[in-house]
Amino acid sequence: MAYTVPKLKDFSPAALDKAAAKLLAALEQEAAGVTNESGWKTFRDGWMARKSGVLTQVNDLWLKAAPKDAKRDVGQQVNELKKRVEQTIEAALLRAQGAATSDLECERLDITLPGIQRPIGAEHPVIKTMNEIIAVFRNLGYSVEEGPEIETDYYNFESLNFPPNHPARDMQDTLFIAGQESKPLRERLLLRTHTSPVQIRTMEKMKPPIRIVIPGRVYRNDPPDASHSPVFHQIEGLAVDTNIKFGDLKGTLDHAMKALFGSNVRTSFRPSFFPFTEPSAELLVSCFICGGSGQRGSDPCRPCKQTGWIEILGCGMVDPNVFQFVEHNGYDPKRVSGFAFGMGADRVALLKYGVDDLQLFFQGDVRFLRQFA
Ligand code: PHE
Repeated sequence: MAYTVPKLKDFSPAALDKAAAKLLAALEQEAAGVTNESGWKTFRDGWMARKSGVLTQVNDLWLKAAPKDAKRDVGQQVNELKKRVEQTIEAALLRAQGAATSDLECERLDITLPGIQRPIGAEHPVIKTMNEIIAVFRNLGYSVEEGPEIETDYYNFESLNFPPNHPARDMQDTLFIAGQESKPLRERLLLRTHTSPVQIRTMEKMKPPIRIVIPGRVYRNDPPDASHSPVFHQIEGLAVDTNIKFGDLKGTLDHAMKALFGSNVRTSFRPSFFPFTEPSAELLVSCFICGGSGQRGSDPCRPCKQTGWIEILGCGMVDPNVFQFVEHNGYDPKRVSGFAFGMGADRVALLKYGVDDLQLFFQGDVRFLRQFA
């Protein structure tokens, strides 16, 4: 129901203002309740209908009834009101129409659209390779151990038989954590340069015999290029028991390489040095790209640099000095022996998948990664 216009007794400007304000408030309130076009028509007719609309009433009850000397002012006021009423009614129509179209917009359904595809994630090729390596050793009875990426000098170096200031530390260009100078050397923090500290951490908590593999991320201050990255991945292995010999190391790794690269590959051990193994060796695998010939047709074989052999990992018999650091937990160097090895998982992934740039593994380009899904 539209507004009922009161008769006026007092036609003074103040009284008129008051009456007009009341009327406009009623107008706004009614306009706010308009939500569709048929509601708007009722609203419009209530206010504008010629016969008995609010504006007609205003004309009759306020303007026509006004005494002569007030007519001019009342006339102005009524004209003003008319304008406001018309504007408000027009705006209400636009709003009602807008509401209707946006309702429709929300309900719009295009049944010819293809469904929404939710791509399933996949293992990253490096993680996939690590899991494959782990699986090979799981089948041999190894369990998985992990350790922190922020490590102390003690676990990363000292307990692995790298004495302070020993040049062997220079083999691994280390990223040190700043502001550690006030601590004793062995407590200073760094980003682990290899997974070997987890050898010690595990021997501290588990008595022999043990057989473990240690996957993880490691860090070195190497500028990134096609075969280097400051962040990369290693898989370490450690077996300690009462009668472990170099032959066990050779047999285990020969088996693992055949499981990883195919039963045709041959393995070769070349003398090397690591402070925490004695003797130490590098393991080479016959090139599974060229079959060991160093040639691919008339072209030189790149992965093995024409040598027919690919270096895969470092290994050796656990140095008795290392056992001394965990002797209190049953690792008496006179009673136990063991072997250890460590390989770069990213490198193995490069070789396995024939990728020629290590950086591709770390750039996260889906077009590259999708090929391994
Ligand atoms: N930690 C050595 C490296 O990162 C690899 C290694 C592991 C060598 C275990 C021997 C035994 O270079």
